[in-house]
Amino acid sequence: MTTAPASVSPRQLPCGGVPAGIVHVPGDKSLSHRSLIFASLAPGEYTLRGLSQGADVHATASVLEALGIPVQRGAGTGPWVVGDGSFREPSDILDCGNSGTSIRLLTGLLAGYPFLSVLTGDVSLRSRPMARIAHPLQAMGAQVDGRKGGGFAPLVVRGGGLRGLDHRSPVPSAQVKSCLLLAGLAANGDIIVREKHRSRDHTERMLPAFGVQVEILPDGVAMRGGQSLQAAETDTLDVPADISAAAFFLVLAGIRQGADITVPGVGVNPTRDGVLEALAAAGVSVERSRERVEAGERVADLRVHESQLRSFDVGGSLVPRLIDEIPVLAVLAARCPGVSRFRDAADLRAKESDRITQVVRLLSALGVRVDEYADGFDVHGHPERAFSVIGVADAAHDHRIAMAAAIAATCASEPLLLTGSESVDSSFPGFFATLEGCLVR
Ligand code: S3P
Repeated sequence: MTTAPASVSPRQLPCGGVPAGIVHVPGDKSLSHRSLIFASLAPGEYTLRGLSQGADVHATASVLEALGIPVQRGAGTGPWVVGDGSFREPSDILDCGNSGTSIRLLTGLLAGYPFLSVLTGDVSLRSRPMARIAHPLQAMGAQVDGRKGGGFAPLVVRGGGLRGLDHRSPVPSAQVKSCLLLAGLAANGDIIVREKHRSRDHTERMLPAFGVQVEILPDGVAMRGGQSLQAAETDTLDVPADISAAAFFLVLAGIRQGADITVPGVGVNPTRDGVLEALAAAGVSVERSRERVEAGERVADLRVHESQLRSFDVGGSLVPRLIDEIPVLAVLAARCPGVSRFRDAADLRAKESDRITQVVRLLSALGVRVDEYADGFDVHGHPERAFSVIGVADAAHDHRIAMAAAIAATCASEPLLLTGSESVDSSFPGFFATLEGCLVR
């Protein structure tokens, strides 16, 4: 079991400084998982460039290796190679670490294979809801079980014999959608996944590159079951920089006087770029340059060098387009004059931590008033005054809470202490060095 060890001593977060220069952030985590999985399923060998080196992506790679797929991991930020292999019954439990994307997508995939798999993860992952995938997979005919009536990992899957399904997802979730599409590859019948608001669409953009036909519906996606992946036209898959990682530095530049930060090569897929809309609403202007399309995904360099902060609201169909950026947008809200409202985001309670509770705790430890609601919070911003440090912050096994704390701490009157800071490794190893490196004293 990989329960993340708590930090022996808390980390002192940097305070003050003017963010400046070019900041490189890791490859997109969602695209990294999918590139590894699709390269494993397709015939031939693939070179994956720009992959995230985060622990979550290593978890997906390790599971694929345990299933019989050769994966050569590049040193540093070097390319990875996924060789040709075929899936076989794993001889041990599959450990997905802290990664919801790994467990949900891979459970869907394994539901199509006629062997036994057991998937688990760390203390955070084992407390996250899995009924949202287990129930539709069971409706497709898979044998999927887990703790507490099937709702929590470890999950036990005996796959095979799948039929089609028309599923309306109770929450917009790309993990649920992708899980069911992966299961659908082995189903005898059509798979339709419907959502109230469209979740990130990387899976349905990437499948056609491997010869799998999908149909985009007004309220979801449909796929004919039983399709096999074909060799892609290119044997090199490029992953852009992660907008969810870039968001920490865009917000940092937005809240620090005199900042000028550029993050190059960021994926700005329209189902993921809600953070740019929220930044604009908050008075932070983000300049896009060198806009291009790479491997079916929009990419741009993003620069923030001026802001006129004002309160802003987040809700409705914007939420799935920025769901992972809400902790750092809450930090932005804490610097905006007036009250910023975040609503329709109850699913934040089911992320790596209960992010509504953790945002309230973090901002409260910095003397900021936050009112909590079932599906969000209101942040009462202080534009000028430094945050007063009235506690120690804790990452709660959640990389995005740790990074949001570090961005907020730059505006504190004295250094903030953070426990559990190693959780940043899930998505952004080297985050603290990158942060220190861009703060000019
Ligand atoms: C992800 C989808 C989102 C997101 C997660 C990554 C993905 O989760 O929060 O960090 O790669 O599909 P949900 O699909 O559960 O909203």
